[in-house]
Amino acid sequence: MTRADAVLTERLRSLSLEQKVRLLTGADFWSLRPEPAIGLRRLVVSDGPAGVRGERWDERDPSANVPSPTALSATWDEDRVERIGRLLAAEARAKAVDVLLAPTVNLHRSAYGGRHFECFSEDPLLTARIGAAYVRGLQGGGVGATVKHFVANDSETDRFNVDVEVDERALRELYLPPFEAIVRAGVWAVMAAYNSVNGTTMTEHPMLREILEQEWGFDGVVMSDWFAARSTEPAANAGLDLVMPGPGGPWGDRLVAAVREGRVPEDVVDDKVLRLLRLAARVGALDGVEPAPPTAGPWPQDRVAAELRAGAAAGFVLARNTDVDGAPALPLDRTALRRVAVLGPNAEVARTLGGGSATVFPPYTVSPLQGLRAALGPGVRVDAGRGVRSGDRVPVASAALLRHPGTGEPGLEMRFLAADGRVLGREHRTNAAPTWLGTFMPGLPVADVTAVEAHARLHSPEAGTWVVGASGLGRIRLTVAGRVAHDGRVELPPGADPVEGMMRPPQRSVTVDLQAGQEAPVVLRYEPESGGGFGDAEIAMVTFQLNLDRQASDDEELDQAEALAREADAAVVVVGTTEEVESEGFDRDALALPGRQDELVGRVAAANPRTIVVVNAGAPVLLPWLERVAAVLLTWFPGQEFGNALTDVLVGDAEPGGRLPVTWPADEHPAIPSTRPVDGTLAYDESIHVGHRAYERAGVEPAFWFGHGLGYTGWEYLDAQVTPDGAGGATVRARVRNRGPRAGREVVQVYASRADSAVERPARWLAGFTCVDAGPGEEVTVDVAVPARAFAHWDTGSQGWRTEPGTVRLAVGRSCADLPLQAELTLPGQGSGSARPPA
Ligand code: BGC
Repeated sequence: MTRADAVLTERLRSLSLEQKVRLLTGADFWSLRPEPAIGLRRLVVSDGPAGVRGERWDERDPSANVPSPTALSATWDEDRVERIGRLLAAEARAKAVDVLLAPTVNLHRSAYGGRHFECFSEDPLLTARIGAAYVRGLQGGGVGATVKHFVANDSETDRFNVDVEVDERALRELYLPPFEAIVRAGVWAVMAAYNSVNGTTMTEHPMLREILEQEWGFDGVVMSDWFAARSTEPAANAGLDLVMPGPGGPWGDRLVAAVREGRVPEDVVDDKVLRLLRLAARVGALDGVEPAPPTAGPWPQDRVAAELRAGAAAGFVLARNTDVDGAPALPLDRTALRRVAVLGPNAEVARTLGGGSATVFPPYTVSPLQGLRAALGPGVRVDAGRGVRSGDRVPVASAALLRHPGTGEPGLEMRFLAADGRVLGREHRTNAAPTWLGTFMPGLPVADVTAVEAHARLHSPEAGTWVVGASGLGRIRLTVAGRVAHDGRVELPPGADPVEGMMRPPQRSVTVDLQAGQEAPVVLRYEPESGGGFGDAEIAMVTFQLNLDRQASDDEELDQAEALAREADAAVVVVGTTEEVESEGFDRDALALPGRQDELVGRVAAANPRTIVVVNAGAPVLLPWLERVAAVLLTWFPGQEFGNALTDVLVGDAEPGGRLPVTWPADEHPAIPSTRPVDGTLAYDESIHVGHRAYERAGVEPAFWFGHGLGYTGWEYLDAQVTPDGAGGATVRARVRNRGPRAGREVVQVYASRADSAVERPARWLAGFTCVDAGPGEEVTVDVAVPARAFAHWDTGSQGWRTEPGTVRLAVGRSCADLPLQAELTLPGQGSGSARPPA
């Protein structure tokens, strides 16, 4: 036992069984119980990963919105991601958050995965290295990371109950390695997933003890995903340490009884408490124990903005850049521009993040239109047009079109009502999609509230017809201009995910005609279902939306956009998804851009040969017009500085530094696995052939291969040599030259393959990578480390890692399909028969 553990064990010994067990279930939605008797203060946890939301789901409590994980991994830049981790640590401290519920390291097994934007990559090595960098940054600033969701929670459909059937090699070689790397790097917490793996639910799975603890030496806390703990004895004995959220759940008195009756050994409880105290000590929540690293201090706002602006640009992937004459269309020459058309549904509204628990409320967002207008200045005429709506749903009402009924300020008034109609509390909000998780207002008992009402005056700046809608689960009454537009109960289909109910609840709408300057009172009365369908009735789980849009026809807007494009020197079309399409809680049914966005791009491209398409989506969407446009820039969900970063890249002040962390499909091909369980089981039949490996195996050409990204300069790959590193791995030394006219950054990628293998293998797999900077014409030599694990496979017979003797080919280049250099290495072979990695 270490000295630090001896101190913690002494404190633990002074607690009664009841006191110990009390610590093992959350106090509420986002915090853990204090225990003053041993100097333990309350600990606060918060989502993650695109920012630190804090304890409130509330736009009045904003958080820096960093690029979403696909955008971070597209940088392939561990130093940058570590710095963003540091920034998140500072954010967490400013919000009194001790532990962030991030990073998410499930894989992009299928492009249909709804939570794709929240995971890093299809590749385990890239995920592991970017995830570990994120954790280093965060924990280096004294804030705990929670790597999630352990394991095989790679899609959302039926995620609470689905049984993932996955073979041992796929588990060991794809799905576990990111967790393993991050645990070995010293992460302080792991979140056990909702799903089952091969028949056992993850909060009770033997992998918690046998793999996490015994093989990898994890000494931190295993917490349940929210409401994922289902049992007392099996979960406690299996190695779950903390039930979240609280105060209900299957432990408490039942766990005390299980210990008293000898069904759960008290040592098992002690071990959980020790782990919890270790976490508390690390984050500085235990009196008299210095936190592991010093606590991060606040960052000035301009430093946050600069980091997020550069970070977003570094993840943008320039996928295509060829205008009609075969010349690069980007960067735009701003001195030659007189008129630019900025079009598309995501041009005016920046989509900076995806939906679900990853939601944060940025203090501001810069839309593409705002960014371009600000940077191009008065000398360039910027015409804007939405072109088409981004989907069929009526969007959440913008506060700018609503007036508080009392003060006339932009926004709405929320009223919390008792059963007798008394108003128990009021608040002024600008978010017309409010959510309350845990509590409504400080000091207002959840049980006293029977209804929440949103009151506002809809302000019509010009004459027109408006569509007013209400969305939510429960009983909803919508009154517009004194007329009851809807009154009734709205329910999700049986078995649907509660988060789906939050992100895209069923919608009801009406139209109203208003004159210029006219206002119409709107009241949305919402009566929650008891318990909200998610967990405990003591916890508020309320969410609804007031929706609003001008009634417009896509046809008219399309004509307008086309006309603007025709008149412009260049057309920038920003298409994409929204948090209603890409979210936790549900998967995607289709990969096409929602609504009529493809038609918009096609018409704009026909009208203007210099059409630049910006794809603002967290995951791949189909690009049927690809060959008809001059440039395609993939920006992911890039965080609050979106528009500024975009402008930097479009005018060439910054390079689009990203490389694809995922293979970009050309169509809805069967090489993309389904996320739909059959009879409760989701079979990972493709085994180790995920992402580019599946395309290579099927002989199918995607739109863009894994690793692809053009940047603004060109690179020549001169030669490569490989030498064993003495530890079972190798170093690939490559010489590359920047043959373009400007400085740039290249991601040098190394892929391994084995021609004559007795073991089933992918065609090739990522074995190492590194980033390199070079000035124009400069030649640089770069060493890429390839770890021993890259050469090993999981041997199911001996239950260990094994390296097959023989020749391995290492190919070096710019993507998995553009590999100009080759080198070979002869491996002596090694089989440990143990679960330890060979290096
Ligand atoms: C999500 C987790 C999240 C938790 C708390 C769950 O539904 O799966 O990723 O951390 O909620 O918001």
